[in-house]
Amino acid sequence: MDYQAKTTVLHVHPATPEPDLIAQAAQVIRAGGLVAFPTETVYGLGANALDADALNRIYAAKRRPASDPLIAHIAHPDQLPLLAAHVPYAAQRLAAAFWPGPLTMVLRRAANVPDNIAAGMDTIAVRMPIHPIARALIEAADTPIAAPSANTFTRPSATTAAHVLEDLYGRVDVVIDGGAAPLGVESTVIDLTGATPVVLRPGGLIMEDLHRVLPDITSVQRFLSEGEAATSPGQLTKHYAPRARVMLYEGDAPAVRGAIEDTAQRYLANGRRVGILATDEDAQFFTQLGVRIIALGKRDDSVAIARVLFGAMRALDAQGVDVILAPLLGGEGLGEAIRDRLLRSAEGRVYRVGTAG
Ligand code: TXA
Ligand code: MG
Repeated sequence: MDYQAKTTVLHVHPATPEPDLIAQAAQVIRAGGLVAFPTETVYGLGANALDADALNRIYAAKRRPASDPLIAHIAHPDQLPLLAAHVPYAAQRLAAAFWPGPLTMVLRRAANVPDNIAAGMDTIAVRMPIHPIARALIEAADTPIAAPSANTFTRPSATTAAHVLEDLYGRVDVVIDGGAAPLGVESTVIDLTGATPVVLRPGGLIMEDLHRVLPDITSVQRFLSEGEAATSPGQLTKHYAPRARVMLYEGDAPAVRGAIEDTAQRYLANGRRVGILATDEDAQFFTQLGVRIIALGKRDDSVAIARVLFGAMRALDAQGVDVILAPLLGGEGLGEAIRDRLLRSAEGRVYRVGTAG
């Protein structure tokens, strides 16, 4: 059964949130309703993390399977004992170094937290965001707020209020419009319940910074085949996917441009609509194709590319393209999260072109 709601949009200042508007949204959380709000990574679809019925509404609104666990957001580290049964030393160090910020830690769950927050597992993912609206909302609600990304299941995450409304209008009580989410990719998820810390999802907190605090950190960087059990269900290959079929090209730059151009022409000849995601450097090479091109940013500017990536996929979907062709971008820093999201959106369709090796 789907959750029905009359959706109210509140325009809130991202740096200095208006207390009366935050109080109005917090009241909805207290009453068991759903509030979508901006964080520094992406928009979240929030509900009281300690209210099992409210949590069920999140799954219904997102059309998300109950097997995919939620992240609980806190405003202060002293809310952590409400959620986690045990906070290992590594988690304390990570919290001290990177909270508030785009870091989510998977810990053993405290007994009072409803188990539908974590799909029945005995763990919980916790994050302390830095976005002023997120912090003000959690504080005013006076309870941890569970919030997955505010998109319908498997669609690209929402980085603006317009994206949230596109997916969730009529399925969420309040949408706080606080402008674009500054980072544009989700938080880094780290599992701290095992012998060594493991990165389950690369994200806004980059590996180089993590390594500085925890040199023994490892990451799960493999793609699961469908149906295979996942430590983090976010590892399902199909995720963050536009409706169009995404195809990625990897190799030296001229070969990648050539392959994208050839493929575009082939699809066009078959009467299909084509969209291209390009770096600023490459965009000009495709203009004569007459297809929809979105320039994401300069190849080396991962910060710029991360900020617009999900919105670009949504924009091409809105134009009704059948295929999206893109270079497999990546690299260090935020490049890891960009690569991960591109690979998931393409469900593994990566074509290696040009010189081998
Ligand atoms: O930046 C973010 O993390 C955003 C904002 C709203 O905070 N939230 C977000 O939530 O991306 P979501 O639900 O779309 O992704 C949460 C990820 C998923 O990959 C989920 O499987 C994983 O965290 N996760 C949540 N609880 C977990 C748990 N107990 N054990 C392992 N993985 C967990
Ligand atoms: Mg998500």
